[in-house]
Amino acid sequence: MDRLCLMRVGVLTGGGDCPGLNAVIRAVVRRGIQEFGLEFVGFRDGWRGPLEADTVPLDVHAVRGILPRGGTILGSSRTNPFKEGGPGRNGVERIKDNLAGLGVDTLVAIGGEDTLGVAARLHQQGINVVGVPKTIDNDLSATDYTFGFDTAVNIAMEAIDRLHTTAESHHRALIVEVMGRHAGWIALHAGLAGGANVILIPERPFEIDRVCAWVEHRFQTRYAPIVVVAEGAYPANEDLSLTTGQLDAFGHVRLGGIGQLLADEIEKRTGKEARCTVLGHIQRGGTPTAFDRVLATRFGLAAVSAVHDEAFGAMVALRGTEIVRVPISEGTRELKLVPVERYAEAEVFFG
Ligand code: F6P
Repeated sequence: MDRLCLMRVGVLTGGGDCPGLNAVIRAVVRRGIQEFGLEFVGFRDGWRGPLEADTVPLDVHAVRGILPRGGTILGSSRTNPFKEGGPGRNGVERIKDNLAGLGVDTLVAIGGEDTLGVAARLHQQGINVVGVPKTIDNDLSATDYTFGFDTAVNIAMEAIDRLHTTAESHHRALIVEVMGRHAGWIALHAGLAGGANVILIPERPFEIDRVCAWVEHRFQTRYAPIVVVAEGAYPANEDLSLTTGQLDAFGHVRLGGIGQLLADEIEKRTGKEARCTVLGHIQRGGTPTAFDRVLATRFGLAAVSAVHDEAFGAMVALRGTEIVRVPISEGTRELKLVPVERYAEAEVFFG
C-alpha cells in the first residue's frame, strides 16, 4: 500500500489562544483527508497532549462548523516538554514513546514563539514536525502577519471608538491598556485606527511628564484624550514595578498594571480625572475577522502540503501576498519589533 495512505498526523495548538486557530485546523484536516488521504489525531492542550497521550478524534466531521469559532477546539496550554521530567523518562522521550504508541509519525504544531521553539528542538531530536505561526501580537519575524492580530486590532479599535464619546461627555482622560508584551503592534495599529492621542509601546520607554503634556494639550483643544498603552510599555527613569511576579513555564513574567499606573500619575500630575480600561483577553476571544480566517486557512492548506511533501522542520509564513516555507528555527529566532520610523510616523497625531 502507498506509504502516504498510512501517514497519521497529530495536530496541536499551544500558547495563548487566538482567533483563527480553528480555521487552520479545519484547512489542515479537510485538505489532508480529501486531497492527500492522511489520517489525523488531535492532541489536547498544546504539548501536554503528546506528553500525556491525551488525544481527541479529528476528522472532517470534527471540523465542521468551526471556521467562525474563536479559541481552539483542541484546547491550549503553555506546557513546556523540556521542563517536564517523569519517572525515568524526560519530556522528549515521553513524547517519542507516545507518538510511536499512537502510530503518529508527524506533528503539525500551531503556536507562537514558545510552541514553535519546542517544535524546532523536537525536530532536531528526530521528530517530524511542521509549524504554523500564531500570535495576536504579530511579533514573529519570519512572517509578515500572523492571524489573530487583525481581529485583536479591530476589537481594540472598536473599544477606542466607544471610549472617545464617553471620555468627551465626562471631560476625562481615558487610558486603554492592550496586549503586547514585547512588541507594540496592537497598540500602534489600534491607536492609529482609533484616533488615539497618545500611543505607548514597549519598544520606546516613555516619559510620564511628556505624556501628561500631550494629555493637557488635548484638553486645551476641548477634546478628551485617549491614551493607548501596550501592557509591556514602561516609563523611562522611574522606579516602578509593573509585574505580578508570576512566571509561566517558558519563564515569561505576567504583566499587568501599566494602564492603571498611568491613570494615577496623570491624575496626580495634571489634576484631570483619568480612568483606565484593560481590554485583556477580550482581544483574544470571539470570532476571527475575514482577514484572519483567510490567512489561517491559507496557512493550514500550506502546512498540510508541507506534511504531504515531507518538508519536516518547515514552518509556513506570509511574505508579501505569498505563503512560503521557512525553517521553524527561523520563525523563532528574533522578535519583530515596531521600527523607530513607524512609531515616529504615529507621533504626528499625539497631543
Ligand atoms: O502572546 C499572546 C498574549 O496574548 C500576549 O499579548 C499576552 O502578554 C499574553 O499572551 C497573555 O498570556 P496569558 O493569557 O497566558 O496571560
